[in-house]
Amino acid sequence: MTTGTAAKPALTAEEARLLHEASLRDYDIQAHPHDYYRAMRKGDRVHFDERLGSWLVSRHEDILSVQADPITFSVNMGYHTQQARGMREEFQAILERDGGGYFPDAIMSDPPYHTRIRKLMENAFTAHRVKELEPRIREEVVDLLEKVADRGAADAVTEIAVPLTIRVIVEQLGLDHGMEAQISRWSQAVVAQISSMQSRETMLENAKLICDLQNYLIGKMKEREKAPREDMISDIVHARIAMDDGTTETLTFAEAVSLVRALMIAGNDTTATAIGNLFLLLATRPEVAATLDACVEDDRRLTRFVEELLRVEPPVRALSRMTSREAVLGGTTIPAHAHMLLVYGSANDQDEVFPDPRKFDMDRHNLGRHVSFGGGVHRCVGLSLARMEVKVMAREIARRMADIKLAIAPGDIRYVPTVATRTIEHLPITFTRRQG
Ligand code: HEM
Repeated sequence: MTTGTAAKPALTAEEARLLHEASLRDYDIQAHPHDYYRAMRKGDRVHFDERLGSWLVSRHEDILSVQADPITFSVNMGYHTQQARGMREEFQAILERDGGGYFPDAIMSDPPYHTRIRKLMENAFTAHRVKELEPRIREEVVDLLEKVADRGAADAVTEIAVPLTIRVIVEQLGLDHGMEAQISRWSQAVVAQISSMQSRETMLENAKLICDLQNYLIGKMKEREKAPREDMISDIVHARIAMDDGTTETLTFAEAVSLVRALMIAGNDTTATAIGNLFLLLATRPEVAATLDACVEDDRRLTRFVEELLRVEPPVRALSRMTSREAVLGGTTIPAHAHMLLVYGSANDQDEVFPDPRKFDMDRHNLGRHVSFGGGVHRCVGLSLARMEVKVMAREIARRMADIKLAIAPGDIRYVPTVATRTIEHLPITFTRRQG
C-alpha cells in the first residue's frame, strides 16, 4: 500500500508471502511474529491488514510520528467505537440502571481534555506512592515464590505472574484482601467490552459483572471521600491541580470512577505478561539467566536488565488509534476514520534502531528508545510501578531459583488470542531451589 517513491529493499520470497497472506490476528504470527514484522518494515511499512480491517504501523519512526500527533491519530475514537460494539446503547442502559451510572473512560481521550485528566491521574503515581508500595509488593512476591520453591516446579503464569498482579492491585488501590478472584473476573469483564468478540449473551453477563464492580468501587470511593488513606483510590478521589490562573481543577465523580476502574484494568494483563516473559527467557535462554545472576545485587544494572527484557519481549503487541482526518504516514495515505494499530512489538525489533535486535544486550546505548510503554501524551502512566514490580520479581527469582527449565516443548506454549498483547496462557517450569 506504500505510495512513496523511495526504493524499497528487495523482499525474500517468504517475506513476500507473509505480506500477501498473513494477518496480525493469525495464531502463527502471534507465536512467531518477527519475520512478519520485518516483512512489513521492509516492504509495506504502513500495511493494510484486510482481515483485521486495520492499518498496521510497523516502523519505529512512524510510530513516533503518530504519537506526536494525538489529534489526527485519536485514541478516543479508536477506543470508544470498539466498546460493546453493536450493543452500546443496551450496555449503557444496563450500567445506568444497575451500576451507579455509565462512566466513559476519561483517560481514553484526546487533548486538550486528556491533558487535564492525565495530570489529575498522575496524582496517584507520585514517587512517594510507588516507593511506599515496594516493600509490600516484595512481601507478596516472596510469598508466591516461597509457596512453590521447595516443589521445584510451578506454572509460572497462573501460580506466580497472574496472582501477583492481582495482589498488587489490591494493595495499590486499597481494596479488600480476599477479593482477588472476584477482581480477576471483574477485570476480564471490562476487558471483554473492547474485544469486539462478545455475543449478546456474554455482553449481558459481563455488563452485570461491571455493575457489581462499579457498585463496589463507588462504595470504596465514598469511604475515602470522608476518610482518605494511603492508597490510590484516595489519591484519585482527592486529586487536584493548581491552574495558572490561580483556580483549582478536580475530577467529576464520573471521571474519578472511570479512572479507578482503569487503574484496576490497565496494569493487570500487561504486568503479568511481562513477568511471564521474564520466566520464559530465563527458562529458554541461558545467557539471559546468567546475565540476571551477574547483576542481581546491582540495582542500576538490574534496572537495565528489566528495560532490555521489556524491549526484547514487549507485553503489548499493538494498540488502537483512529484517524480523525485523512493523513499521510511513511508515504502511505490513510483515509479519515480508519482504524490503525501501532505495532509496538515491531518497532522494538527494528535493526536500524536496535542492532541485532533478538540479542539480549542490556548495554545498548539506546535502551530507553523502546516503545513498550508507548510514547507521547499516552505514554504509560503506570510505568514506574510496572518497572518496580518486574524488578522486584527478577531479584527474588534469582535469589531463590536456579536452572529454570521449560517443562513443556517450546512449540506447546499457547498465547491468549488477542491482537493487543502477546500473553502466555500457561508456563510450566522446573527449577532447583537455591540455598543460602
Ligand atoms: C509492564 C507493564 C506495562 C506495560 C507493558 C504497559 C504498556 C502501556 C502502553 C504501551 C501504553 C500506551 C497506550 C497507547 O499507546 O495507547 C500504556 C498506557 C497506559 N498504562 Fe500501561 N503498561 C504497563 C503497566 C501499567 C500499570 C501497572 C498501570 C497502572 C496501574 C498502567 C496504566 C496505564 C494507563 C492508565 C495508560 C493510559 C495512559 C494515557 O492514555 O494517558 N500500565 N501502558
